Amino acid sequence: MKFRTVNSEAPGYRSPLFIVGCFEDEAPRAIPDGIVAGALARQARVEGFSGTCGATMVAFTDFPLAPERVLVVGLGPRDSFDLRAERKALTAAFRQVKSLKVASVTVAAEGLYGPQVSESLFGETLAVVAGLVDYVINHFKTARGGHKPEVHLKTVRVLTGAADQEAVHQGLSAGRAIAQAVNLARDLSNLPAGMLTPLKLAAAARRVAAASGGTIQAKVLRKPELEKLGAAALLAVSQGSSQEPCLIELTYTPPTGATAEVLGFVGKSITFDSGGLDLKTADGMRTMKRDMAGGASVLGAIGAVAALRLPISVKAVLAATENMPDGNSYKPGDVLNTLAGLTVEVDNTDAEGRLSLADAIEYAKRQGVTRVIDLATLTGSIREFSGDVGAGAFGNTPAYTREVLEAAAACGELLGELPMWEELRAANHTDIADLKNSGGSPGSVTAAWFLREFAGTTPWVHLDIAGSSYRTRELGMDPKGATGYGVRTLVELARLYSRRPASA
Ligand code: BES
Ligand code: ZN
Ligand code: ZN
Repeated sequence: MKFRTVNSEAPGYRSPLFIVGCFEDEAPRAIPDGIVAGALARQARVEGFSGTCGATMVAFTDFPLAPERVLVVGLGPRDSFDLRAERKALTAAFRQVKSLKVASVTVAAEGLYGPQVSESLFGETLAVVAGLVDYVINHFKTARGGHKPEVHLKTVRVLTGAADQEAVHQGLSAGRAIAQAVNLARDLSNLPAGMLTPLKLAAAARRVAAASGGTIQAKVLRKPELEKLGAAALLAVSQGSSQEPCLIELTYTPPTGATAEVLGFVGKSITFDSGGLDLKTADGMRTMKRDMAGGASVLGAIGAVAALRLPISVKAVLAATENMPDGNSYKPGDVLNTLAGLTVEVDNTDAEGRLSLADAIEYAKRQGVTRVIDLATLTGSIREFSGDVGAGAFGNTPAYTREVLEAAAACGELLGELPMWEELRAANHTDIADLKNSGGSPGSVTAAWFLREFAGTTPWVHLDIAGSSYRTRELGMDPKGATGYGVRTLVELARLYSRRPASA
């Protein structure tokens, strides 16, 4: 998708679809110079379109100088127009664009930035929304099967005042990079497990590094190296699978040089979770190709950080494996000596995510990250809290957790903190080892406590994305299936640390 800014004083209205915003209870704006205004106002009256935020109205025009079609999108009341209203209005507009199957649109920026939304934030939001709504799942439908190729949006022209063009343009290119990152995460999560094995995920990570212009280095530890290292928890999870596990490490060094602060992005990367010997039901297993959504988001995010050339060092770590039942599988009752040296009794082989993450977190710490954020489809029970709309946050350092919550709020991803009461820590205790891998109810909290033991004193936040990373319905900018949840929050967090003085 290409974005172009066009001077609104010399517009050229020839466009198959022209998008204009309209504040509540105001008349749709004239394009061009009043020719269409009367017709739009009449249609608005007939259709009862009053500019409610997110409402849309499509009008045909037959004036020689006018665009063929005008899509009017409601912006809500002028006084309360903010970033949320911007997102809502643009999402509605681009969903309409998608259903109209046009390849190019022109957006009149007037009204879409102002006191509460800067020029560049408008540009960024526009490009994010356009890119995310345009996404179509990487399906395997063929012409032979009667499938017609999707119409993708190729060109988005944005009409702005000459003075604002540069700032809008900057926002557009940032937004484009972010949308690409989210869509990469969606593609990876949507891929069938037969196609996205641990080593295929490593290949995808190498492609992210290759596209970074030399700012991201990729390292992949294969099975023999993991054995030498002592990543016994990751290896135990992989034992029942005929797919080789691996540990993927991506290191982003800013063009301006490494920073003292190194953000560690850790992503759960179970390419298929059958449950292992504690086998899931058919219903429970059906979508478990998505159990690497955390890893996918982490990959997308570090790619976006590189594209934005943010001045903050970032490391991404993915411990990739399948979880399968087999004669070689790890078993309930097994005791594992994790990379960190903590021993774990396997209580349930379906609680594999925390085992793989324990080794990933320890590895990230050894590689010098100064703070960790992990994204994981960790527990089914998080959905009692988050539904399928958002995610749960857990942390060991209140100030850092707050920053992560702020980052999520800034980019519009729903995230809420859950308490980690010390009294629940003992739920993971057992007579046999330092920890067991299933501490019972409340499942999401005891799982977080398990990870926290491995974070130790390193500032750490865990996002349980089992609800929001994959949906069985469309919602807002997200299609059915993988959502790429978390990419935008991670990018926002990296931006926050980019702005912060190095000594902090
Ligand atoms: N991958 C699942 C969690 C999950 C469930 C993600 C549904 C997305 C949708 C995880 O590995 C798991 O199986 N967790 C168990 C843990 C239990 C056995 C202690 C769970 O949440 O039931
Ligand atoms: Zn599981
Ligand atoms: Zn899992």
